[in-house]
Parts: sequence; C-alpha cells; structure tokens
Amino acid sequence: MRASNLIIIKLGGSVVTFKEKPLSPNYEGIDKILGVLGEIKKNFKIIIVHGGGSFGHYWSVKYDMHTKPYPYSDLGVSVVHESMIGLNHIIVNKFIESKLKPYSIQPSAFIFNSAADPTRIHDILDMTTGNDLIPITFGDVIHTSENNFSILSGDTIMSMLCTELHPEFSIFTTNVDGLYNDMNKGEIVREIRVDKTDIKNIFLKGEIKKENPDSSFDVTGGMKRKITESIQIAKSGTPAYLINGFHPERILNIIHDREYIGTCIRMGSGS
Ligand code: IPE
Repeated sequence: MRASNLIIIKLGGSVVTFKEKPLSPNYEGIDKILGVLGEIKKNFKIIIVHGGGSFGHYWSVKYDMHTKPYPYSDLGVSVVHESMIGLNHIIVNKFIESKLKPYSIQPSAFIFNSAADPTRIHDILDMTTGNDLIPITFGDVIHTSENNFSILSGDTIMSMLCTELHPEFSIFTTNVDGLYNDMNKGEIVREIRVDKTDIKNIFLKGEIKKENPDSSFDVTGGMKRKITESIQIAKSGTPAYLINGFHPERILNIIHDREYIGTCIRMGSGS
C-alpha cells in the first residue's frame, strides 16, 4: 500500500559536500535544501537519506574499501564510519537550526546481513506520523557477515526504504540536472519508463550514454547506481526523480505537478 503524503529524499554527497575536496561540507548546498524542506513539510512526511561525498568516499578510497563484502581494514571501517557520523552530525545540526526536528538513524539500526528489516523501517515511518520528526539516515560502512563489511550507498538505502514504504515520491539530488543523453549538448532525458527495461537496455539503446558524470572519488558506482536503484523503486510503483540539488525548488515543482528540470524514472511502457 502506498504511504500517501510521504516523500523520501536523497541528499547526494555532491550537494552536501564538495565532492572533490576532502572532508569539506557544502553549507550553502545544505542550506538551500533546508530552505525548501520547510515548505514540503507543510504537506508531506519526509524521510532523508544522505550520501558520503568527500567524507565517506574519501576514506573508503584511502582504505581501498568497496561495496563488495570483504574483511577490510578494521581501522578503515572505524574511520569511514566515524566520518559518516561526523557528516551526519553537521547535517542534523543544520536541520535543528532550521527547526526541522531531525532524528538521526544509523543504517545498522535497520539493516542486518545486507537486508533491511521491514519492522524497523515501519518504525522509521511512524516517527514522521506520530511525532512530526524527520528521520535522517545515511550511506555507511556496515557489517555484512562474519568479519566482512561493505560500503552501503545511500542510493541502495533509498531503494530499501522506498520498496518497503511506497512513498508518493522518491527524489535523488546530485550536482547535475538529471541523466544526460548527450552531455555535449546538455540534453537531459526527461522520462524513462521501466516496464521491460533494465539498466543494460537503457545503455544499449543509447537512451543514456555512459559518459554521465561520475567522480573518481566514488566507490559506490555514481550515476549508474542511481539508475539501478531508481529502476527498483519505479518497479515497486514509486516514481524516482533525479534532479539538481542546487535547485531544490524543482522538488516543489515535482510535488505540485508543475514543469521541472530533471529525469523521472517510472513504471509503464511509455508513449
Ligand atoms: C556513500 O554513500 C557512503 C560511504 C562512502 C561510506 P553514497 O554512495 O550514497 O554517497 P554519494 O551520495 O554518492 O556521495
């Protein structure tokens, strides 16, 4: 069943940090988003997921840690995790300054052995209903099994939350306007219908070329991962929007059914 009036938003690492500059929060980027969240909150329950940007990704690269479960360096696990708590702390405090009533949730509170626990996910939703809080979780390094850990992208968490809670909208913000079908011409793909489509087809058909911007700093798969997770979300019935987080008013345009710049991935065979 669809949780009406629920919106789940990913604050991309390229919006909340300067992705190419180690350990640097982008306060302006965070503030811009906060500016519209107050507006969205009038009509919607909100859950936030944020990425790692130049915090988590920076240390993951340093310690050679990736999404594949593996017995990575213990020190690396500590440092990556702590860097994400540090970034989360910064973001959560900005929310508090804006009176947005955030509640920070570590992914390990609802993800065990790489799978999300549905009961815990519904607990997170309850916080938005009964208590007017905005739960905030984040990409992280998490324990998978035995002595293995893996880097878990906030994009994957988006898909775990959305496929369980069926929000009305799922929004991924990054530092680009959407998915490009031609970077040189600056052309954005406005809509992708995922009835029979999988990610390989999208690339094979040339609907999206491979040169979408990915950062060398990114251990979780950049734009490609966003498309994969968005397809999962779309298949579960929630449209996924990829938009530029430095123009967060575009989120308002989407929820108010107005023209917007960005890419929508949704279910259906298309026109
Ligand atoms: C990455 O999360 C988390 C770590 C590297 C620990 P994301 O994959 O969601 O981060 P961004 O949004 O791409 O920066």
